[in-house]
Amino acid sequence: MTVTALDEPALGLRERFPIFRHTTYLNSCSLGALSDRSRVAMSDYLDQWERRGASAWYDTWLGAYERLRVGYGRIVGADASAIALHPCISTALTVVAESLDYRRRPKVVTTTLDFPTVPYQWLAKAGAGVDVEILESPDGISVPLEAFARAIDGRTALVATSHVFFTSGHVQDVRAIADLAHVQGALCLIDGYQGAGQVPVDVGAMDVDFYCAGGLKWLLGGSGIAFLYVRPSLIGQLEPRVAGWFGHATPFRFDPRVLERAADAHRFDLGTPAVAAVYAQLAGLEVLEDAGLAWVQARTRALADDLIADATARGLRPKVSPEPARRSAIVMLPREQPHADVARLAAAGFIVDARPGHVRVSPYFYNRADEHRSFLEHLSRG
Ligand SMILES: Cc1ncc(COP(=O)(O)O)c(C=O)c1O
Repeated sequence: MTVTALDEPALGLRERFPIFRHTTYLNSCSLGALSDRSRVAMSDYLDQWERRGASAWYDTWLGAYERLRVGYGRIVGADASAIALHPCISTALTVVAESLDYRRRPKVVTTTLDFPTVPYQWLAKAGAGVDVEILESPDGISVPLEAFARAIDGRTALVATSHVFFTSGHVQDVRAIADLAHVQGALCLIDGYQGAGQVPVDVGAMDVDFYCAGGLKWLLGGSGIAFLYVRPSLIGQLEPRVAGWFGHATPFRFDPRVLERAADAHRFDLGTPAVAAVYAQLAGLEVLEDAGLAWVQARTRALADDLIADATARGLRPKVSPEPARRSAIVMLPREQPHADVARLAAAGFIVDARPGHVRVSPYFYNRADEHRSFLEHLSRG
């Protein structure tokens, strides 16, 4: 994709995101921008709630929930029957954490670069004998495969780590990590919240046991909706020590005596979904599908490359993977006072984010290259 093309509005798609009328939004890794389509879908939900009340559950809302399973499945290359739905990553992790047997395998391996809710899930089980090994990163960008190889052993139940690190944008070699886990008889869970949407995901090729992501960021669905992929051959073997009625084989039988779990990944669902979030997410996925995921990812990557090159030329020393193929559209710029920078830039109409010691910038397909160039110009002046 040429740099000139990156200055062009993205195939008219940009107009679908009203925030660009007044703001230079470069923070999709925190929250994807709201499209007009999601707004219409959510107001459609409100209309039905107002007009029909609970009668909309049976012929409309539950169907939308199932369509979302299909849509998420398409994003990661899985059948809908392997997708459980959750309100957030943390509850999806809870179901996995409560499905494992830690008696013979008490160890869980994760890293310091993962989003803290991943280690927290298992640190909370320290009292129950779970031993969490948190791998260090020598450069704050990635964790060497050798560190995973050294840590994963015959006592390891699970390796839980990211597809793309929120801290550095580094894209991990998920297949290699999954292979290291499987050689030792351990399972592999990938937190793909910063991956799905902005980089290709194929759970089969990655050979992972669990993959979770959701609407908040690159899938344009807003908050309150996430999913968990479970490897089909594993589904029937897992009996989570948590349950909710949406995980029952026949929830509308309302039988309190027998917990008969669904045969497919519905068994990892918990309770009543936030329907507004489901509607917002369905519309967000439609926008991505209409644009074409491959195009979305290629343009995002080209924008990120241009941003990294420009930041480097300005002496801003972006902290990104030294291997270009492992970079993504999360770009960390080392700064002395990142919060002051973010506030100053917000006053000038640029929305970016602060993380310890860094300003974090994340363009997506709806951005243009002139936006990050102008942002870098403002940042350099401070
Ligand atoms: C990689 C990653 N995982 C998880 C989360 C959040 O998890 P939850 O949905 O439980 O809030 C975030 C950020 O919001 C994230 O960047």
